[in-house]
Amino acid sequence: MSTTLIKGGTVVSATGRVLADVLVDGESIVAVLAPGSTSLGHDLAATVDRVIDATGKYVIPGGVDAHTHMQLPFGGTSASDTFETGTKAAAWGGTTSIIDFAVQRTGEKVQDGLAEWHGLANGECFVDYGFHQIIGGADADALAYLPRLVDEGVTSFKMFMAYPGVFHSDDAQILKAMQVSADTGLMTMMHAENGPVIDVIAEQLVAQGKTDPYYHGIARVWQAEEEATHRAIMLGNITGAPLYVVHVSAKQALAQIATARDGGQNVFAETCPQYLYMSLEEHLGATSEEWGAFEGAKYVCSTPVRSREEQHQDAMWNGLRTNDLQMVSTDHCPFCMKDQKELGLGDFRAIPNGIGSVEHRMDLLYQGVVTGEITLERWVELTSTTPARMFGMYGRKGVIQPGADADIVVYDPNGHTSIGVGKTHHMNMDHSAWEGFEVDGHVDVVLSRGTVLVEDGEFHGKKGHGSFLKRGLSQYLI
Ligand code: URP
Ligand code: ZN
Ligand code: ZN
Ligand code: ZN
Repeated sequence: MSTTLIKGGTVVSATGRVLADVLVDGESIVAVLAPGSTSLGHDLAATVDRVIDATGKYVIPGGVDAHTHMQLPFGGTSASDTFETGTKAAAWGGTTSIIDFAVQRTGEKVQDGLAEWHGLANGECFVDYGFHQIIGGADADALAYLPRLVDEGVTSFKMFMAYPGVFHSDDAQILKAMQVSADTGLMTMMHAENGPVIDVIAEQLVAQGKTDPYYHGIARVWQAEEEATHRAIMLGNITGAPLYVVHVSAKQALAQIATARDGGQNVFAETCPQYLYMSLEEHLGATSEEWGAFEGAKYVCSTPVRSREEQHQDAMWNGLRTNDLQMVSTDHCPFCMKDQKELGLGDFRAIPNGIGSVEHRMDLLYQGVVTGEITLERWVELTSTTPARMFGMYGRKGVIQPGADADIVVYDPNGHTSIGVGKTHHMNMDHSAWEGFEVDGHVDVVLSRGTVLVEDGEFHGKKGHGSFLKRGLSQYLI
């Protein structure tokens, strides 16, 4: 087994920072040492197989992105990143674990959906991966299978109050699933938007000839997010189920979450980079020479990016500070413009929903440190430590300490990253929703279980290195 010493850096955790050297043996961290520590009188650096110089840089636990959709079938097509391309892009960006969503639809068996996702990911990944289970058809069989997910290491399932006819569950189905969640400790994850209401508004907009991507944002009113979030919280309250609300974008939905948390309920939530940086006006409403008003299709995702005039973005940053939002995931769900987003030319309802960001989450959130929205420690907490705790992997992931997996990023605060196709882009898309973003900071070195994946702008990872993460129950519950 080979040994590595990461020397001279500032090790940052969720609770502090310290100048320290990190010693890795095989796949694990074995020691966090005072700088320049010796071993039996010898310079430690002379006794290891490899030394990585982190002087002037941050040494942080590898990123954990708890919300990705590799190859998700959606809107008559499938998300364009495979587990191979998507996990490689993740590694480039300093994310060393992802949790993707296995899919079960109406009439299908949960175990078949899960087996299918294992088949898609097994042997394909560059970084470690776990699964949540989408329950898209909560029939008696699906509900009966839920407790078995705990033994499978899939300790969370997601339901949808949106997307009628696709993944939507009604309140009775959600209530029953949440009863299982309360009994077993499985985390209930919720896409909280009132889908039936949104679909009526969308249909009426299209009938009026309002078919551009911009109207995706008009149809998906914040009230539909607030209402569904409140309803999910109340169903969680009735049942005692722990609830995790995905991709929060409306400040009013966030207020519902804050109130529930203040009341002591096990309610948790994430937001995503697009809800911190993008808006209805600038992005869904964008035009370009190439695409005209269809340019906005690049930014069609659900929940939608929201009005900057209404200051939802500021509210999300604030929620990250107050811990009413505990973490930032990407909801990585990439679609190309050509042949995929294009399906919705002339009708925004047919644009496949999703943005690709798995490569950029660490950098994008680091901008919050640069601008003073969050601390350095909070950056690590939001992008690595809490995702690991929330989804039952903490100790192995999310922290630099002896015994943890050696998933480590050396991050250069004085580096610079230009995001865009032809620059830093490794996601399998013909465009980047983040084109032109210039960010301070740079992912210099990435290790996954002791193996160097990225160093000095070169990729050294191997397909199949990433292995399945059998997760425990959430370590975040109160
Ligand atoms: O737009 C999105 N979010 N696409 C992926 C599916 C989902 O709702 O998470
Ligand atoms: Zn969703
Ligand atoms: Zn999603
Ligand atoms: Zn470098």
